[in-house]
Amino acid sequence: MKPINVGLLGLGTVGGGTLTVLRRNQVEITRRAGREIRVTMAAVRDIEKAKKYAGDGFKITTNPFDVVDNPDIDIVVELIGGIEPAKDMVMMAIENGKHVVTANKALIAKHGNEIFAAAQAKGVMVSFEAAVAGGIPIIKALREGLTANRIEWIAGIINGTSNFILSEMREKGSSFEEVLKEAQRLGYAEADPTFDIEGIDAAHKLTIMSAIGFGVPMQFDKAYTEGISKLTREDIQYAEELGYRIKLLGITRWTPEGIELRVHPTLIPAKRLIANVEGVMNAILVKGDAVGATMYYGAGAGAEPTASSVVADLVDVTRMHTADPGNRVPHLAFQPDALSDDPI
Ligand code: HSE
Repeated sequence: MKPINVGLLGLGTVGGGTLTVLRRNQVEITRRAGREIRVTMAAVRDIEKAKKYAGDGFKITTNPFDVVDNPDIDIVVELIGGIEPAKDMVMMAIENGKHVVTANKALIAKHGNEIFAAAQAKGVMVSFEAAVAGGIPIIKALREGLTANRIEWIAGIINGTSNFILSEMREKGSSFEEVLKEAQRLGYAEADPTFDIEGIDAAHKLTIMSAIGFGVPMQFDKAYTEGISKLTREDIQYAEELGYRIKLLGITRWTPEGIELRVHPTLIPAKRLIANVEGVMNAILVKGDAVGATMYYGAGAGAEPTASSVVADLVDVTRMHTADPGNRVPHLAFQPDALSDDPI
């Protein structure tokens, strides 16, 4: 079968990881997808930096339109981050009949409703596993593994940078500023690290999990958001003395009055499993009425963990694209039209 052609928008930490994983595990990935997934092009800001990824049949351009307007490209992988120009590029790719894979949580949390409606109208898929909790397949767990359940609540550590900072401050007594710099050096932090330390990145991810888990539209504006920037080493030490750890949690729950979404530092008894999630690791608890409480753990940021999720989406989309269009599974966990009577 002929390869499916992929174009990347952005070739930074996650883009580089995606190429590395696709190239290293090509045989296994081709078998699982049913055909070769071939990255034929990447649009980048800095050609010089991208040259290390040069390979046969792989073009590098500085013009993103070379990707989204390219009739030979079947799937566009958006790894630019932020809202613009990422949103315009995604909408154009959809308009041009391309599937989209994105790691962009801000984009999905704030504009997902509009993007999904456009994708639905065009019969293309939009997949965003890498947008939440890096390498943990939480979107697939919520959408597929737990689909029988009425989800009661979701709670978790979903910002690797904040968790890394809190861990290093507690374990090594390091200062907030020095650990943040280290998180940036390791490629964990957002382009604007305010998003990490003020809880905004966690609120983006929480919004997405909430929408998938409860089958509702994205409602980022409803999230209460408080980060870790005001916490001191003393706060962390006092918590420790009292037998607690401080973790930045994202919590969403269904209530008869509507869906609650909140991100804030939380005191957790030190003996709880989730209190012992350290460093860049993320952990998410999901309570379903049938399954009970479940927990998902793994690296929440970083090149290859996030690439693991991007490639999983590429395999998914490739399988769906290859299926008879009439048999494609919708990319959404819910049908927006069915929501008119919901109390939200
Ligand atoms: N800045 C994010 C984090 C990257 O630290 O969790 C992964 O989404």
